[in-house]
Order: sequence, then C-alpha cells, then structure tokens
Amino acid sequence: MNNSALQAENMPQLIFLGPPGSGKGTQASLLKKRLNYHHLSTGDLLRHEISTKTPLGLKVQSIMATGNLVSDEIVIELLQTHCKLSDGKYIFDGFPRTVVQAQMLQKDVLTGANSLAIEFKIQMDILLDRIVNRRTCPKCSSIYNIKYRPSRDGNYCENQSCAGAELIHREDDKENVVVKRIEVYQENIRPVIEFYSKLGNLRQVDGMLDGEIVFESVKKMFV
Ligand code: AP5
Ligand code: MG
Repeated sequence: MNNSALQAENMPQLIFLGPPGSGKGTQASLLKKRLNYHHLSTGDLLRHEISTKTPLGLKVQSIMATGNLVSDEIVIELLQTHCKLSDGKYIFDGFPRTVVQAQMLQKDVLTGANSLAIEFKIQMDILLDRIVNRRTCPKCSSIYNIKYRPSRDGNYCENQSCAGAELIHREDDKENVVVKRIEVYQENIRPVIEFYSKLGNLRQVDGMLDGEIVFESVKKMFV
C-alpha cells in the first residue's frame, strides 16, 4: 500500500517504546513527513524548556544531565499541555516510561481511541555507537548521524527554515550518561511493556534494520 492510499481515520495513535538510540525519533520524523502524524517527544519538549531557560527547564536540567527520569507529574503535565487528540494522529515518542504514565495516557488522553504500542527491539551493544555519532538540530530537532545519516550540509541542519543552524551533540549523549539512561530504561520498562501486552495492542519492530525497512514494517502494522 502506498502512503497516499492510507486513510487518516484508519491510522492508529502510536506509542513508541524503546531504549535510547533505538530509532524512535528517526521513525517518528519519517511518519510525520510522510503520513502527517504529529510527533510528540517528551524528551524534545523537556530540552526546549531547558534551552529557553523556563522555571521547568531549570528544574529538570540536572535530572536529565544524569540520565534519570523526570517525575511523572512533570511529564504528564507537559503532555497534557501539548497534546490535542482532536488535531489528528499522534506519535508518543518516549512516553510513557512508567505504568503511572501509561495509565494516564490510556485513561485521560486516548480514552478508547485506536492505538498501537510499538516496542523497538535492539541489541544493547549497538546503542552507544549510534548515540555518540548522533547529531541533532537545536532548532527543529532533526536527527542525523555522522556514520549512518550525515547531513548534506556537513555540521549544519539541512532544513532551510533552520537557516544553517549548527548541529549539536545532546548534553545527555555523553558516554557515561548514555550508559545510565540505558540502565534506567531497563529498570523501568518491563511493567510498561506488560501493561500494553495485557491491553492486546503491543507490537514489536526490529530496530536493527535499515531505517527504511523499519519504516515499512511499522506502516504494515496499520493494515
Ligand atoms: P528522550 O529524548 O526520549 O531520549 P531516549 O528515549 O533516551 O531516546 P533517544 O532520543 O536517545 O533515542 P531515539 O530512540 O529517539 O533514537 P534516534 O532516532 O535519535 O529522553 C531524554 C531524557 O528526557 C530522559 O533520559 C529523561 O530524563 C527525560 N524524559 C523524556 N521523556 C520522559 C518521560 N516520559 N518520563 C520521564 N522522563 C522523561 O536515533 C539514534 C541515532 O541512531 C541517530 O543518530 C540516528 O540517525 C541513528 N539511527 C536511527 N535509526 C537507525 C537505523 N535503523 N540504523 C542505523 N542508525 C539509526
Ligand atoms: Mg529521541
């Protein structure tokens, strides 16, 4: 099925679960570009709060710098502020990370909407290599990789509206912080996966494959 043949009303709300570097953001931006999904990444929202030095940003900065999770209260409020389901189909990227967040998403936001939780399966030993080579646009959050997906414009964002913004290495992408983030993911995710497994809407995708193949695998889950 080609992209235009997909009817918006048949597209589920998507919940992306996966460790740091498993490709959640990369796939979300492809789905946004090609299928008009809204991409809601709690990590991107938190980083925006930090870069604009809001009181919330100042509060979460040190937590994120150590690779720990921000409190449920903070991320739930952030999500509620930025998500209007009446606007269309969403990808929840990096949310939920706890059962409290999953219950809230199901009950207060999705409330019976057609949804799929997709777990990105990947060998832990390749995550670090992906993340140390990742570069991100500080303006539009576009994701690049020095080895896998370099910017055509060298160390600058390709997106014209970013007017040549210089790509950055995320503050929490330092090796020791990445190791901690992977640990925190492994400690917290099991009950969340079980939550979606019991709901019957859990799917898995092989995040080790080429990005285009991962995209096609995700899309096939809708039909
Ligand atoms: P967040 O920003 O969500 O980070 P994360 O979950 O750790 O995931 P990443 O963004 O690092 O990886 P990704 O899966 O998006 O991979 P990407 O596509 O970029 O969270 C950051 C922090 O915010 C947390 O630590 C926490 O403190 C806080 N936070 C956020 N949400 C929270 C919540 N709900 N509750 C509490 N705290 C929260 O790809 C990685 C690299 O690999 C890129 O360079 C890419 O080009 C490359 N790549 C992608 N796909 C492929 C492929 N198929 N083959 C080869 N390379 C690939
Ligand atoms: Mg991401």
